[in-house]
Amino acid sequence: MASRKSGKAAGNKPSKAWAGRFREQTNRLVEAFTRSVAVDRRLYAHDIQGSIAHCRTLAKAGVLTRRETATIAKGLQSVCRELEQDRFRFLPEDEDIHMAIERRLTELIGPLGGKLHTGRSRNDQVALDIRLYLRDEVKALIGRLTEFQRVLVAQAQAHENVPMPGYTHLQRAQPVLFAHHLLAYVEMFERDKGRLDDAHVRLNVMPLGSGALAGSNYPVDRLYTASLLDFPAVTQNSLDAVSDRDFMIEVSSALAVVMMHLSRMSEELIIWSTQEFHFVDLPDGFCTGSSMMPQKKNPDVPELVRGKTGRVYGHLMSLMTTLKALPLSYNRDLQEDKPALFDALDTTRDSVAVMTELMRRLRVDREALTRALTGGGMLATEIADYLVTKGVPFREAHAITGRVVRWALDEGRELSDLSVEDLLAFSPRFEKSVLERLTVQGAIDRKAQIGGTAREQVARRIKELTKRLA
Ligand code: ARG
Repeated sequence: MASRKSGKAAGNKPSKAWAGRFREQTNRLVEAFTRSVAVDRRLYAHDIQGSIAHCRTLAKAGVLTRRETATIAKGLQSVCRELEQDRFRFLPEDEDIHMAIERRLTELIGPLGGKLHTGRSRNDQVALDIRLYLRDEVKALIGRLTEFQRVLVAQAQAHENVPMPGYTHLQRAQPVLFAHHLLAYVEMFERDKGRLDDAHVRLNVMPLGSGALAGSNYPVDRLYTASLLDFPAVTQNSLDAVSDRDFMIEVSSALAVVMMHLSRMSEELIIWSTQEFHFVDLPDGFCTGSSMMPQKKNPDVPELVRGKTGRVYGHLMSLMTTLKALPLSYNRDLQEDKPALFDALDTTRDSVAVMTELMRRLRVDREALTRALTGGGMLATEIADYLVTKGVPFREAHAITGRVVRWALDEGRELSDLSVEDLLAFSPRFEKSVLERLTVQGAIDRKAQIGGTAREQVARRIKELTKRLA
């Protein structure tokens, strides 16, 4: 960042756009305290895009000539290139990206640069910039989530008929397909994309022309500005337009839910990759070792994703708290929106990216999954439901089966190894046909309704998703 050399601003060459009204220069502490350029400089391309549309709107309103508009637009493009190529020199008096760009524009094209801000305030300007920026970010994140889903569907397909224990309370419950488990996450990310799409609808509204708070004194055609920037609608109340940050809260809340889903998946990967479970082997390139214990291979990536989830929740809470009790319209508190929003976006984007690559390389230990299917009495529901087909009320069937399970546990027997004779000791309703039900595959394939774990259902959903995500 630039040195203080250009602090020569006092006297008759004011450093700030508003210096005319002041007797004193801005205190250095205040300059540093109010400065946001380190955070909002990432808005530069969208700021310039918005400024060019603003100029063209002023030209249409007869406020600028076509020549002036062309010169300003050319100047703005040069500033944009300087920023792109990291040649732009920020000065200490550049409070935010908006003022930095206007200051540089005026250096490049002279006093004409001073006409750019006609009929505009940084309040409607920043409202526009964030909306333009978020439109791009939200679309990009939806694309990343789609790629992540593709990876998960591909893993599901590669392990299409691999059974595993399904859990409730982290206790073995009923057998399911490993693919079915992975596809559960695909559904979650599908809803996450829906939430981002919804947020996009409300952020895709054009606020420029709201001025500082009351509107514009110039006959600007706001619908024209909107069409230049590809917005389907314009905001309908200037006070609201410069105060509104709920579109950011919606995006941040959608991001928090994405992170929550990633965190649940992370937690499972952490458990599954323990020596106790060993259902999966995390790729070496995505784990770290210990500085002390040579044997260690730690699941740091999922742990960090789980940890960063709290950070994104925090940003959502920070935005909500910033807005709470804030009177209309613009207040400087609102500048605190960007560190929260940007970090939430960055963290979520990076988390999705790293988890995509981890899952692409995940190795699944089929034998460990199969081993885990024994010993848990997971076919008990099958026995109970079999008795129901023989006319036993479900509650009674449940009780009979409970006694069977208790006995098998005491005897160290697997339910799948029981004979009809063993079972007849508990109820006269058992027949030979019960044995067909006492297999993992049979238990899985009987869950054949939409949404069940039967092979045919999982295969159908894989096909649908593959098509949808293509
Ligand atoms: N940097 C400011 C922000 O991000 C821009 C708007 C400044 N407006 C003002 N009235 N000081 O909120």
